[in-house]
Amino acid sequence: MMPWLVAHRGAMAEAPENTRSAFDRALSFPVDGIEFDVQSSRDGMPVIFHDDTLQKINGSRDSAADYTFDELADMDWGRWFSPAHAGEKLLTLEEVLALYAHRTRLMVEIKPAPDMMHEALYRKLARSVAIQMRTSVPGEFQDNLYVLSFDPELLRIVLEHDPDRKCVLNLEHAVETVSGIGMDAAALCGWGLEFSRLNADFVALSRRCGLKIMTYSCNSRETVEQALQWGVDVIMTDDPGGMFSLIRQRA
Ligand code: G3P
Ligand code: CA
Repeated sequence: MMPWLVAHRGAMAEAPENTRSAFDRALSFPVDGIEFDVQSSRDGMPVIFHDDTLQKINGSRDSAADYTFDELADMDWGRWFSPAHAGEKLLTLEEVLALYAHRTRLMVEIKPAPDMMHEALYRKLARSVAIQMRTSVPGEFQDNLYVLSFDPELLRIVLEHDPDRKCVLNLEHAVETVSGIGMDAAALCGWGLEFSRLNADFVALSRRCGLKIMTYSCNSRETVEQALQWGVDVIMTDDPGGMFSLIRQRA
């Protein structure tokens, strides 16, 4: 079976990552899904942003969690990418679910808390994400929704509130056994790994465990070819337009 091709942070090679422009651009190609990042504002709003700091947005070392949602919503989320994208709005999880959950698969990555001070806020974030995904998206599209995280504790909270949600643990490196990943592998539907850390042994382990492999980011012919040869389940790319044609040429 061909792997799914998922747009990493939207079509981030062509538009500011994690914005409506990037998601709409991704969906102009026949992708199988979109991956994006969720963080918390200071007042608990799930917002779509990747980085630990707002360096590229306002030049500061603050995190999104240092600002209220209203303060974040007043910022410009596209100018850093190019003047043509000035005025891009910050998206909330609620908006993304309403705009896209009926159109494609959504891989919702809950980022770990930026520091220890914000850990309680991020535990609340995981609970909000789980509840919002289950309650705001009609049942017929629930199967489109996945939750990803590097933090097993946040996935445990998601599963506590929504035991049927498909959860994917992002790993820092390939493991040789499932012990030590920080949670029960049976609760997961898959795991995620950066392409440069993937290897044949890890793929074999995943197959034995019945876990799907999602890898990121494959942005060249060579990486896509290797991922296809290993038989991964999901290829995330920053450049869905370029990569789509490569994958379909092989089909
Ligand atoms: O969820 C897979 C991948 O996006 C994790 O890494 O840093 O690109 O969010 P990052
Ligand atoms: Ca991500």
